[in-house]
Amino acid sequence: MTKKLIVGNWKMNGSLATNAGLLQALLAGLNDDAIAVADVALCASSPYLAQLQTLLQGTALGWGAQDCSAHDSGAYTGEVAAAMLRDFACRYVILGHSERRQYHGENDDLVAQKAQRALAAGITPIVCVGETLADREAGRTEFVVKRQLSAVIHAVGHCASEIVVAYEPVWAIGTGRTATPEQAQAVHAVLRSQLKAASAHSSRNRILYGGSMNAANAAELLSQPDIDGGLIGGASLKADEFLSIIASCP
Ligand code: G3P
Repeated sequence: MTKKLIVGNWKMNGSLATNAGLLQALLAGLNDDAIAVADVALCASSPYLAQLQTLLQGTALGWGAQDCSAHDSGAYTGEVAAAMLRDFACRYVILGHSERRQYHGENDDLVAQKAQRALAAGITPIVCVGETLADREAGRTEFVVKRQLSAVIHAVGHCASEIVVAYEPVWAIGTGRTATPEQAQAVHAVLRSQLKAASAHSSRNRILYGGSMNAANAAELLSQPDIDGGLIGGASLKADEFLSIIASCP
């Protein structure tokens, strides 16, 4: 059975000092039992990638970024190219997070282009999809998440089996209102079918749940047949809580 993947999305949080303390506590608490059942990674803001590389290389903790450019290089002030992330040995990059879709106008095509660049740089994209509360209440959940994922699948072609997908219902992010295991599993099953149709290796894709996952609800979510891990926001900033989520992997 493929190991679960638990990824901490630190978002725009941290400092050199607090990062060092959090990483030390995580490394101290990550025992062999946890490593046996889960791959674990942390995605930090770009200024901290050198610190994560220095502190995490040679450990069981992976690291990554929270975005990358749709371009390889050039006059794109402020952007970070996927190849630059490779300079810091990033294993993952989160793409299409709802906060970037909302605050930066990222659309499906842009996310798809970014996924192409990440794969070309040898970095695994964690492609976020998810519906708003209005979408869900209007019965558009399946349409929205399939549309978002379809753009990426069509852009990356045979590499579709190399992406990680994160289902993050927008209404569950940062709200404490977690999707029920049944709600999450239903959408994960739709995404699994879509990935299976796109690639003979869809069993290799890992589909993560994100949206107020915490120590109290992680075990039931992670026991669902198509939930292969979690993309954790607030709870990843607290060592004990994040370690408890990792320990909840079956
Ligand atoms: O990317 C993960 C994030 O959107 C979930 O945030 O705080 O609800 O776990 P949170």
